[in-house]
Amino acid sequence: MTRRIFVDTDTASDDAVALLMAFEHCTASLVGIGVVAGNVPLEQAVQNALFVRELCHSQTPVYAGAARPLVRPLETAQNVHGQDGMGDIGLPIGGRIPNEGHAVHALIDAAEQYAGALELVTLGPLTNIALALSLSPGIAEQIKRCVIMGGTSDSHGNITPVSEFNIWADPESAEIVFSSDLNKVMVGWDISRKYAVFSDAEAAQLRAIGTEKAQMAVDSQTVVRQFCAKETGIDGFDLPDPIAMAVALSDETIVHSTVASVTVDLENGPTRGMTIIDDRNYIDRKKTTTIVLKADRQHFVQLLKSALEK
Ligand code: RIB
Ligand code: CA
Repeated sequence: MTRRIFVDTDTASDDAVALLMAFEHCTASLVGIGVVAGNVPLEQAVQNALFVRELCHSQTPVYAGAARPLVRPLETAQNVHGQDGMGDIGLPIGGRIPNEGHAVHALIDAAEQYAGALELVTLGPLTNIALALSLSPGIAEQIKRCVIMGGTSDSHGNITPVSEFNIWADPESAEIVFSSDLNKVMVGWDISRKYAVFSDAEAAQLRAIGTEKAQMAVDSQTVVRQFCAKETGIDGFDLPDPIAMAVALSDETIVHSTVASVTVDLENGPTRGMTIIDDRNYIDRKKTTTIVLKADRQHFVQLLKSALEK
């Protein structure tokens, strides 16, 4: 049966690689792309998504969504991805026109049109998803599964000691999504740190694939590479959104998981946006989230490379 996938993204350098994988592996079934402010302001994220769509010669509609988190001011990650979010390497980004309509309405319409079959993949803050659930709570049952790049299962954060950026950026939206009945799969930053790091040598091998996509995929990580060296101590760069996309595209990427409830810390201190995972019964909340604990790096890299080779 043809899969129907909707991607929500705050398009920066790792999102862009995840989109390359989505365009390649599910061309017939990528029904829409919603864009949300996060890594970069909304308009930049929209232009980055439109640039990647053109690179993939796709007609998949791209819709602009929320320009800021639900209740907090927008705080971007341009220090991580660059001012343009794509490594500031001078890619020909800008001047493209998104499709008419708001990403939240587009997601609701897709959930209704493909009721029971739509698969949602989120690569940024969960603002659009929270708004869609608030406007049309029934989509929680209509959406077959929502794979979320966000949070951490080991409380090792990348924006505070214990919080991951997508959840930290809009914790209220994340709390709405994680407390909903939506069937979720959480691919935390721990999975990226453990299974999606590319050393300089490995990055050079990817770039040596030689296509325009491969060169963009690696060169757009330039600022991330510097951030990793300075801040996260990763020897190379990691690709959180692409490994989450691999989970969405192929269940074989998951080696071990557990089912749990997830509660998001809404405080303003160092625990802001922390994902509190309960796979026992300490917290009275339905266990609606599969937490990925181990992934198959080889399978992920296979999916990644095949998307870069075209
Ligand atoms: O913490 C990693 C996540 O935050 C990724 O989705 C990256 O693109 C940023 O949005
Ligand atoms: Ca992202």
